Amino acid sequence: MKHIFIKKDQAKPVFLLLHGTGGTERDLIPIAEHIDKDASILSLRGNISENGMARFFKRLQEGIFDEVSLVEETAVLHHFIDEAAKEYDFDRDEIIALGYSNGANIAGSLLMHHPNSLKKAILLHPMVPRRGIHYPKQLGTSVFIGAGTNDPLVSRQETEELVTLLKAQGIEVDTVFTNHGHALSNEEIEAANIWYHKKI
Ligand code: MLT
Repeated sequence: MKHIFIKKDQAKPVFLLLHGTGGTERDLIPIAEHIDKDASILSLRGNISENGMARFFKRLQEGIFDEVSLVEETAVLHHFIDEAAKEYDFDRDEIIALGYSNGANIAGSLLMHHPNSLKKAILLHPMVPRRGIHYPKQLGTSVFIGAGTNDPLVSRQETEELVTLLKAQGIEVDTVFTNHGHALSNEEIEAANIWYHKKI
């Protein structure tokens, strides 16, 4: 997968950055560096092109995912992280995903399909990536969710459904709703920042 790796303090977790639709591997670097300037960064570009916009898996329409692509691309990402940990010599068990929108959805999909795929995750405006499957236990994992009460793509109900599903996997979930839409807000980034420093 196209990516950037920025090596920093090896005693810190490694941020796995996953952009939103039409983004690039550069988009979330300033946010990761704002949260912890000393943590290494593995930032990816989604493999799928939707009319030239990079994504991490195909969708049939807004909010309706192509499940075959979702499952395949999630496995590709999981394997890529395993290989990157060897190549760049970082601790595979200390990954913290930071994903926005489509990137948050594939991070959620990692948690729903692959045990021990992520130690922590900051999911900004995530949806429920997959319903109706057997979800693995992910004990010792914690997730921060940033959501918007006026998000036209993700209803409060969908955010709450995601929280319930993740908690049933044994994941500790903290959720912050801000009074915004689907775009990233400074408020949620500051809330994620506080959460991160409490957790590490
Ligand atoms: C997006 O545009 O990224 C969607 O709202 C979320 C997704 O398709 O995964």
